[in-house]
Parts: sequence; C-alpha cells; structure tokens
Amino acid sequence: MHLIEQLTSPIIFAHRGASRYAPENTLAAFRLAHSLGAPAFELDTMLTGDGIPVVIHDDTLDRTTDGHGKVSGMTLAQIQQYDAGKRFPDDFSGERIPTLETVLDEFRGKILVNVELKNYSTPFDALPNRVAELVGKMKNLDSVIFSSFQPLNLLRIKKLLPAAKIALLIDEGIGWRIFASPVFACLSPKFIHPHKKYISKNYLKSEHERGRRVNAWTVNEIAEAELLFTWGIDGVITDDPKAMLELLAHFH
Ligand code: G3P
Ligand code: MG
Repeated sequence: MHLIEQLTSPIIFAHRGASRYAPENTLAAFRLAHSLGAPAFELDTMLTGDGIPVVIHDDTLDRTTDGHGKVSGMTLAQIQQYDAGKRFPDDFSGERIPTLETVLDEFRGKILVNVELKNYSTPFDALPNRVAELVGKMKNLDSVIFSSFQPLNLLRIKKLLPAAKIALLIDEGIGWRIFASPVFACLSPKFIHPHKKYISKNYLKSEHERGRRVNAWTVNEIAEAELLFTWGIDGVITDDPKAMLELLAHFH
C-alpha cells in the first residue's frame, strides 16, 4: 500500500525540508524533518544543463547559494561547487544542492516525499521523464507523491507511471478554471494542493465529497493550522514541522 494511505491525517509535510531551521531543499533540511518526526517532506526539482534532476526552488542559484546563474545553464558538477548553506552559515556551511537521486535513495521507504516538478520556465523539457525513470529505478513509487502547478507535468508522469499519486498545485496563476477543463478530467487528481488562502470548511467538504484530499501550503502559523485541523484538512505543507507536530500532538 502507498505510504500516503498509511499515514494519519492531517499529514505534516516539511516544506523544502525543515526549512525554518535548515537551508531549504538540502539533505540537512530533509534529515532534520525526518529526525523531528515529520511523516513527509516536500522538495522542488528541475534539470541541470546536463539533464540531471537537482533539488532547488529557483531557476537560478542566486538566492539560496553563493553561486550565480541559471540551473539550466550549468552542469551538475558546476552547480555542486557552490554552498547551499549560506542562509545558515554557522550550522550548515558547505551543504550542496543535492540530486533528486541522492534524496530519494537516502529516504526510500522512510518518509513520504512530495516531489514538485518545477520546470515552469521549460514545460516541455525532459524533467517528468527523468524523474519517472529515477523513481522507477529506485523502486520507491509507494513513498512518493508528485505535484506541479503545470498539469502537463502530471499528465506525463501518469502516462509513465500509471500508479503514481498525483497532486495538482493551485494558486492565482493556474486558478480554479482548471477544474472545469478537459485536462483536469483527464488528470483526475486525487490530491489537490492549494494555497492556504483558498481553503474554507465548505471547500474541504466539497473536495472530500468528490473523493479528493487537500493538502494546503504554506501553513506556518499555529492559529491558521488549528483552524485547518478543525475543518478536517488532510495535510499541511509547512516550513515549521516542529511547531505543527507539537500542535498536532495536543490537538486530538
Ligand atoms: O508544494 C507547495 C509549495 O512548495 C508550492 O510553492 O513556490 O513553495 O514551491 P513553492
Ligand atoms: Mg515547492
């Protein structure tokens, strides 16, 4: 059975790892999320210039590393020269941008991994193929859920891995019109990942009636999480899994 079916709701997803306490999208952040007891973490992935899926949020290295330039304009070897720990220099200096393969290998079967396909500026690239190949090779389809704002990515993943768990991300860019589209009907996602501002008690009820589960992002405040838990949210994607796990421990 897929790991997501075995976890108790609401599921706490550490957003980009435990990114409040460690540099986002690094092994350190994922290890910390795991050691804090988070049942899941989210990561972002895109292709390097030499076609390797790496784990990074932005199209460029500039914000999260001491390097500069586009991920797609550099090889993996070039990218991994740079320090991805610069935002927490005292504790995490020397962290590297990990490959998706490294992360999937380390956490296989240990924790649910939400892989966000982040090729928004190159939607026709080979990212879904490379990611599907990796997950197939690592045999960890049962502990991965794929998400994207770009439905085409999810359609491609589903074609390559028919048993894949798929979550459509929702924000202003994509909007709710997508729900009425043939693409949505074809995709038929069982998971919706909307920005938290879209969640209401009624909305959750309607998704549940349609047999879909809802995981909201990015939920960092205790008061908003409490409300979402009360309404029956299926999961929250948070920078602060420590606070959310503590809240949850006292919630039931
Ligand atoms: O998967 C939820 C969230 O990560 C989507 O937005 O920009 O943080 O990747 P972003
Ligand atoms: Mg993301």
